[in-house]
Amino acid sequence: MNNKIETILIVDYGSQYTQLIARRIRELEAFCLVYPYNKITNKLLNEIKPSAFILSGGPKSVLDKNSPKLDYCILKMQKPILAICYGMQLIIRSFKGKIKRSIHREYGHTFINLKKNSLIFNAINKKKFKVWMSHGDNINKIPKKFTITSYSDNNIISSTENIEDKIYCIQFHPEVYHTDFGKKIIYNFVFKIAKIKIKFKIKNFIDNKILELKNKIKDQKIICGLSGGVDSTVTAYLLKKAVNKNLFCIFIDNGLLRKNESSEVSKIFRKKFGKNFIKINASNIFLKNLENVYDPERKRKIIGKTFIEVFEKSAKKILNVKYLAQGTLYPDVIESIPFFGGPTAKIKSHHNVGGLPKKMNLKIIEPLRELFKDEVRNVGKNLNIDKNLLLRHPFPGPGLAIRIPGTINRKKILILQQADYIFIKYLKDKNLYNKIWQAFVVLLPIKSVGVMGDERTYNYCVSIRAITSVDGMTADFYMFNEKQLREIASKIINNVKGINRVLYDFTSKPPGTIEWE
Ligand code: XMP
Repeated sequence: MNNKIETILIVDYGSQYTQLIARRIRELEAFCLVYPYNKITNKLLNEIKPSAFILSGGPKSVLDKNSPKLDYCILKMQKPILAICYGMQLIIRSFKGKIKRSIHREYGHTFINLKKNSLIFNAINKKKFKVWMSHGDNINKIPKKFTITSYSDNNIISSTENIEDKIYCIQFHPEVYHTDFGKKIIYNFVFKIAKIKIKFKIKNFIDNKILELKNKIKDQKIICGLSGGVDSTVTAYLLKKAVNKNLFCIFIDNGLLRKNESSEVSKIFRKKFGKNFIKINASNIFLKNLENVYDPERKRKIIGKTFIEVFEKSAKKILNVKYLAQGTLYPDVIESIPFFGGPTAKIKSHHNVGGLPKKMNLKIIEPLRELFKDEVRNVGKNLNIDKNLLLRHPFPGPGLAIRIPGTINRKKILILQQADYIFIKYLKDKNLYNKIWQAFVVLLPIKSVGVMGDERTYNYCVSIRAITSVDGMTADFYMFNEKQLREIASKIINNVKGINRVLYDFTSKPPGTIEWE
């Protein structure tokens, strides 16, 4: 795909905002890729053939001995460059300007004052506006060929440019929402300076991808593990268009799914994939392997391992399979530079029970690996996938097992399924479901005393969880009003035998995580 679409290459020096730069560019319907600075090689650049570069910010000082360096092969390409913060300082040093350490770190809002007309500030009708800064060092002397285009209120050079080489440097972060005209600045770089012409349209992405998959897979067989989630569903629908009967979909019912999920999902998929849809009821194996297991990490490991074993066994029955499809998305692909301790995945051993059988010797195909979640939903919409399926809340691979702290058994699963069903139905009935990023019920491993009618009860407690989020990395609890909380609690207690108390989890992430285990 990349040789047909003009690509902006974002070189990551470890800024916490790098993914945001990519988001902003995609929102402008331009295509971009992110690579860590230490992976930039001549070979890579020849493959990608970037139309322009963006050098990100980063936590280090260019004045430190072992700080990340600017690879000369980037400058050699003579393509337009937008250099942000740390990236800017690298450029200034490469062109023999001077950076000085400052005593004070500048962090947060600052105003900048435009001193000169510049393409990067094109169509911004203010001479002074608010930007987001996060830096220690600043420019002491600009190199030859560069001119200063703005100063910050505390007299720091906040932007400079070298028009001849099409290099635009800014000390502040245009990718952050708090920067006024940030999107406009990125727009100016992409369309006025880099002159990107072909827009990245989802429709074109789908057509190109189908063609690419057809050419690659030819008449070989490919299998895809379906979970009922958005990513694997969209992957399978796309593949169906490319290879039709050579796609085999395997859906494993691990006994840890939501109420009715297994039958609902199977119905949709059977209709779509016919005989090539294979459903495996493996709940007995999963529950047996999880018997008496208490520790969350062990649960996850056991589920992952069992999943692979069941998948492998059934996949082997399909003869001569060459490929395995996975619904990997771009945020999983971007290699974070672990200045800040790396991705959240380290907190729990999870994400993508789909990290599947290496020893099966299958070649991996990941048709969505260039896309963000909202773009995947958009692909799904274009492929006419049922809206309810596309807008479903995320559901973790280990399923209800990680929503039952402590040991798991069929009885507990059944109680939780019913409570969860009532809670989610309530959200849908009240038009709250799509305002909430993820909602579910957790069955706690304690019982408490209650009174129903004239009788004493001694039953389980559940906690309801509802959060808002953009990407699941951080989250805020959703604030129900009093009436809603009352209705949810009484609906659950009145309808689910075995529950007599409902709690509300109002923990944000951080410090909590979304799931309880
Ligand atoms: P946490 O609990 O880490 O969850 O805040 C963040 C998001 O990831 C989902 N999640 C998982 N998804 N396999 C998955 O496919 C897993 O093992 C897994 N664990 C958590 C969680 O539901 C939330 O959306």
